[in-house]
Amino acid sequence: MYEGLLKQYKDYLPITDKTPMISLAEGNTPLIPLHNLSKELGITLYGKYEGLNPTGSFKDRGMVMAVAKAVEEGAKAIVCASTGNTSAAAAAYATRAGVKAYVVIPDGKIAMGKLAQAIVYGADIISIPGNFDEALKAVRDIAKTEAVALVNSVNPYRLEGQKTAAFEICEQLGEAPDVLAIPVGNAGNISAYWKGFKEWHEVKGTALPRMHGFEAEGAAAIVRGEVVEQPETVATAIRIGNPASWKLAEAARDESSGFIDAVTDEEILNAYRKVAAQDGVFVEPGSAASLAGVIQHVKSGKIKPGETVVTVFTGNGLKDPDTAIHATDVQISKMSDLEEMRMHLREGVAKL
Ligand code: F0G
Repeated sequence: MYEGLLKQYKDYLPITDKTPMISLAEGNTPLIPLHNLSKELGITLYGKYEGLNPTGSFKDRGMVMAVAKAVEEGAKAIVCASTGNTSAAAAAYATRAGVKAYVVIPDGKIAMGKLAQAIVYGADIISIPGNFDEALKAVRDIAKTEAVALVNSVNPYRLEGQKTAAFEICEQLGEAPDVLAIPVGNAGNISAYWKGFKEWHEVKGTALPRMHGFEAEGAAAIVRGEVVEQPETVATAIRIGNPASWKLAEAARDESSGFIDAVTDEEILNAYRKVAAQDGVFVEPGSAASLAGVIQHVKSGKIKPGETVVTVFTGNGLKDPDTAIHATDVQISKMSDLEEMRMHLREGVAKL
């Protein structure tokens, strides 16, 4: 039976005899071949569907490790700032480990599904008038003086857990892809993947991909080379103007001969609708930034015809139902009469 990341990758993680082996069976997510998009783009494209983790995002990988280490070190409470997914994962794993989670979120800028999760898992939720960057600054200060463990990705155990996704991709493909495309917000995940690919290559000789990271244009600090004071994007998950792992992300880009580029909200929403409608995978807008980037890079030649590309779908589409409804032409036909339904279907099927 699969029992989660800490057991699965014990030898590659900072686990001691005293580390509690907590688990919600996170990880082991599918690598889904995207047949229709592959054909359209002239590449071999896969989606690493992190939305199938227990709380619906990749954050579970880092959180299981960070919470286990916090508990090992005696913490009774954890704290994080979040655009939503980190708070959901922190709340779930805190419950699992028997500690308290404090989560600090930007008021009104987190997707409904994520807020619902933090509420139901029983976190202590603090909403601030500022953005994620301000929330992160606040919790970093608070963790210095209070008896709470900080579990944002500035905690190195988070990246340790998250690097396991790169291990899985190499195991699923038999080797690293040519290109790994990934959304960039606080820049922890791109850094974790690069660490994972390097470590797996050292042990298994699976080669290294080029890392192609994508920020939302309204929050593209790394691309612009300066902090964005008022980040704005439809992809609230990556609405971050001062990424904490900025330097690590640049190193991942440069060491892998990759890129960090920006995608517009329009490109994000186009990719978001496309992968659901053409290949049947529903991801959240922040996750669609990676696919938007793949489409952009195929056009610009930064991805070459025939290359194998893995695009990381970091979060589940169900996290953000409001964007799903508002960003799509909703076609719901109201009918109460069986004959009317029969005719509707008959006309529709006749056109197929
Ligand atoms: N995709 C999703 C769905 C996310 O929730 C995040 C980050 C990212 C991508 C970017 O990853 O920050 O490691 O570069 N969400 C954080 C949160 C900030 O609070 O949930 P990153």
